[in-house]
Amino acid sequence: MKILVVGGGGREHAIVMKLAESSKVDALYCAPGNGGIAKFATCYPVKATDIDGVIALAKELAVDLVFVAPDDPLVAGMVDALQAEGFQTFGPKKNAAIIEGSKVFSKELMQKYRIPTAEYQVFDDPIKAIAYLKSQNTYPTVIKADGLALGKGVILAQNFDEAVDGIHSIMEDRIFGESGAKVVIEEFLTGPEVSVLCFTDGKTIKPMVSSMDHKRALDGDQGQNTGGMGTVAPNPYYTPEIAQMCMDQIFLPTIRAMEKEGRSFHGCLYFGLMLTPKGPKVIEYNCRFGDPETQVVLPLLETDLVDIILATENETLDQLSIQWKSDCAVCVVMASGGYPKKYATGLTISGLDENGQLDGCLVYHAGTKSNGDVILTAGGRVLGVTATAKTLQEALKKAYAGVEQIQFENVHYRKDIGQKALKVFS
Ligand code: AMP
Ligand code: GLY
Repeated sequence: MKILVVGGGGREHAIVMKLAESSKVDALYCAPGNGGIAKFATCYPVKATDIDGVIALAKELAVDLVFVAPDDPLVAGMVDALQAEGFQTFGPKKNAAIIEGSKVFSKELMQKYRIPTAEYQVFDDPIKAIAYLKSQNTYPTVIKADGLALGKGVILAQNFDEAVDGIHSIMEDRIFGESGAKVVIEEFLTGPEVSVLCFTDGKTIKPMVSSMDHKRALDGDQGQNTGGMGTVAPNPYYTPEIAQMCMDQIFLPTIRAMEKEGRSFHGCLYFGLMLTPKGPKVIEYNCRFGDPETQVVLPLLETDLVDIILATENETLDQLSIQWKSDCAVCVVMASGGYPKKYATGLTISGLDENGQLDGCLVYHAGTKSNGDVILTAGGRVLGVTATAKTLQEALKKAYAGVEQIQFENVHYRKDIGQKALKVFS
């Protein structure tokens, strides 16, 4: 098969490297890809959001399948457009991707089908939103822009003033653009967070190994929210008992609800969960593989990813047994100093081999570009260094040993990835 992967971050690098292991793959292409992906797939400078451009490229390359990885093209309907041209695809159609594309949609779905989530109200008028905050008067409270906001559309307000500022900046200043036309104000939940990515063909749902993201920029979960500074898998808080509860109360009810609504979900459905004292609840749905969750989950996959992709598209997932390694995986993200705010690009990265890799680790490139033999930084999150081992402690040691061999000016990474997970074992 000839496969085109749409996207150009660390997640897409992990997808490309896993696909490269398949005996069924003859050629791999990526749009736009990056400096590290280019060592494993031929990259084309077509933006991940350019639906016409991706269709033209898929035709030119005569590919057998297009794997759409990021949220924006999925929510915009890239899969529908590709299918209309006769291509096989991996990823949900527009009417199912809305589960991530609109928080109002996802909250109403959960309410209608009694899927556990935080209590909430929806507002399209800032004055009414503020009146509600006054009447509630409970803090912290959570304010979310309705639409996609690069993972940054959530404000955890500690008091009334912060909440009012949040409402103004989302709904009036439109810091997240049209995404802020409506807001969800919801109950603040507490407990460990777990990410569970699942393969689904709309009828059967098969969870992957669980993982834990580290969203804040600085050690000790301080600093700003980012796209994710590191991950571990499996997530030790996610016990077999909790997994069963999630399957019965959350995963199956969600895909059945989507089916019932005429929005059958095919692809990877990501459950962002919080294990609250009252049981697991949904914090968010994503219509795609997580980043950097994919960088710890896919290295543990033993079954051929192409077989799984075909089963999700052909609705035969119930007939496929998916195998996982029993190892632990760790990914440490190496970011540009200043991320998630302003940072420099174009800096030389040293310490990698000619494939942009490193002995003992998998180096997933997130924001890099090649310049001849040199690899340069080209984004906020630059590399995700992943290691696997029998224990979490060993995997951490290997990943950080890898990180220490790679240099670029002003590099920033968290030193405490996996420490919260380690505590569960002690
Ligand atoms: P999201 O973009 O929806 O993943 O939210 C970003 C982060 O905000 C989550 O990972 C949680 O840590 C936090 N968060 C979101 N919703 C809630 C909530 N209802 N209660 C507490 N924390 C939340
Ligand atoms: N790591 C969180 C996400 O992919 O949205």
